[in-house]
Amino acid sequence: MANQISEELIEQIRSTNDIVDTIGEYVQLKKQGRNYLGLCPFHGEKTPSFSVSQEKQIFHCFGCGKGGNVFTFLMEIESFNFYEAIKHLAERAGIELPNDAINQESSLSKESQQVLSAHEWLMKLYHHLIRYTKDGKQGLDYLQERGITTEAIDTFQLGFAPNTKDFIATFLEKKGFHPQMLVKYGLLVRGQDDSVTDRFRGRVVFPIRNHLGKTVAFGARAMEGQEPKYLNSPESDLFQKGKMLYNFDLAKKHIRKQNEVVLFEGYMDVISAYQSGVHNVVATMGTALTEIQAKLLGRYAETVIICYDGDNAGIEATYKAAKLLQQTGCQVKIASLKNNLDPDSYIKEFGGDAFKREVLEASQTFMSFYMQYIKKDYNLSLEGDRIEYVEEILKELAKIESSVEREFYLKELSAEFNISVQTLLEEIEQQRQKLGAGKDKWEKDRYTNKVEKSRGKLLPAYHNAERQLLAYMLQNRTIADKVQEEIGVSFNIDDHKIIATYLYAFYEEDNPESVSMFIERITDEKLRKVVIELALIPTQTDISDKEINDYIQIIRNESSTGVSIKQLKAEQRLAEQQQDPIKAAQIALKIIELQRQVKHLN
Ligand code: GTP
Ligand code: MN
Repeated sequence: MANQISEELIEQIRSTNDIVDTIGEYVQLKKQGRNYLGLCPFHGEKTPSFSVSQEKQIFHCFGCGKGGNVFTFLMEIESFNFYEAIKHLAERAGIELPNDAINQESSLSKESQQVLSAHEWLMKLYHHLIRYTKDGKQGLDYLQERGITTEAIDTFQLGFAPNTKDFIATFLEKKGFHPQMLVKYGLLVRGQDDSVTDRFRGRVVFPIRNHLGKTVAFGARAMEGQEPKYLNSPESDLFQKGKMLYNFDLAKKHIRKQNEVVLFEGYMDVISAYQSGVHNVVATMGTALTEIQAKLLGRYAETVIICYDGDNAGIEATYKAAKLLQQTGCQVKIASLKNNLDPDSYIKEFGGDAFKREVLEASQTFMSFYMQYIKKDYNLSLEGDRIEYVEEILKELAKIESSVEREFYLKELSAEFNISVQTLLEEIEQQRQKLGAGKDKWEKDRYTNKVEKSRGKLLPAYHNAERQLLAYMLQNRTIADKVQEEIGVSFNIDDHKIIATYLYAFYEEDNPESVSMFIERITDEKLRKVVIELALIPTQTDISDKEINDYIQIIRNESSTGVSIKQLKAEQRLAEQQQDPIKAAQIALKIIELQRQVKHLN
């Protein structure tokens, strides 16, 4: 696998990619005590039990048990193999890998690799044509007419597919791609005479990149007049519209940083906003927001600003997306555009600054939007409808955690419908009791309880002593040396024996005290989990020799009494086989006595 990459280089890649930063690109982490805490990306949960230790450069989920270092995290979340994780992190840190390491095995199938490669070639060709050739001029004129800068054309690698019959097909075939595969992935179409032609010809081409920045599909916009307006690549194993968001790869670091994302409907909205300086922007691709997309956004940002077209269809879609995002736990805001403009035309007309200030910063809370939105279902000139409307709003208001916020809307309702705030307050209290409201997902106690529960398992004293001791050994070579001298690998728990064996070898090779590096050697996943759990056991910085000696003593006692109990049991069996009940009974008494001693000692 990664044989060509030296240990030193791997170490350099690990140490330049801080685990909190790297995982922070996927999970919203909050500092809590010494560690960072977030919602586990590997299993659904509402209370955070996913913990990342910056000091130790490891992560661990107390809920599902997954854990590891920065490499294993990427392998897990991206389905990378070890080499791909290294490569990804090297790129991320701007570290060059040796040439012979570049073409390593991939976790993708041969076909997928080919498909990606064909998309990349084609993207480059379309882009070259629009930027530098006569054949692409029509496309360039179109984009410039719409106010797209060359810089944005480069950033988004926009291109043009000329209206010629077999230019693209010939190009790709010369590169060695099979026409059949290109047809399957919708890059070419087969005509009735069995010849193949470019599917997107005569259109401006928008490469669609996955979250890793690889182009997996194209969206191709017609010049004025043609139908359909957009021709997109068909869905495939690499391109699933409902699972991806346009521009997510470029936007994600901005989303993280701002803890906020702007969600659009169209490619053009994204490009326009991006080029005018709003970078935390993504879009769905012609389909309604899905739960998968909502969850993805929720993992990256606390707040999602929905900025859809201002027409009726846009408002309906806004409501649906908002509901879904709320269920995912996001804070939703709604940006409205005046005069039924779409975001792209708004920015074109008023500029990026106005868009930021007057649209994004002025965006409504979901509640304000909702109070407006559901009015369409009622005839508010009728008393009955007014009451129903107010009740509907109260139901929604009851879900809001902050009492200040609740009161803000109550006052609005009170003013609009002439009902006393007191009455509304009482009404809402009832609703909240029904909901069992009043819990905070970041509530510290609950987290602590959960962690303590998983740690404070009722284990025999010798088992706890071994865990404690190993926790110290993982952090402190001197302690490990001492333990090695005193008891070697005579731990009582098999896993602990193996871990100690690995650890002694690790220190003998002069490696630093780094759990994150150490777990690299442990290929057995179960064992690795144990190491990570051990590494996360809270320890004191100034542990005394006496305490260490006590642990060692407890372990020794267990193993000696353990061994003699085992021996006695064997003797007892023998006595029974030899039909010597008196001897057997005497041995049984000895066993009981020993067991009592052990209990007492512990
Ligand atoms: P412009 O009209 O060029 O400004 O594009 P837009 O990106 O603003 O598109 P619009 O708001 O009309 O539509 C939103 C998104 O829906 C587009 O970005 C496409 O992803 C998708 N879409 C729009 N029209 C079509 C179509 O005719 N076919 C398909 N497959 N998707 C479309
Ligand atoms: Mn548009």
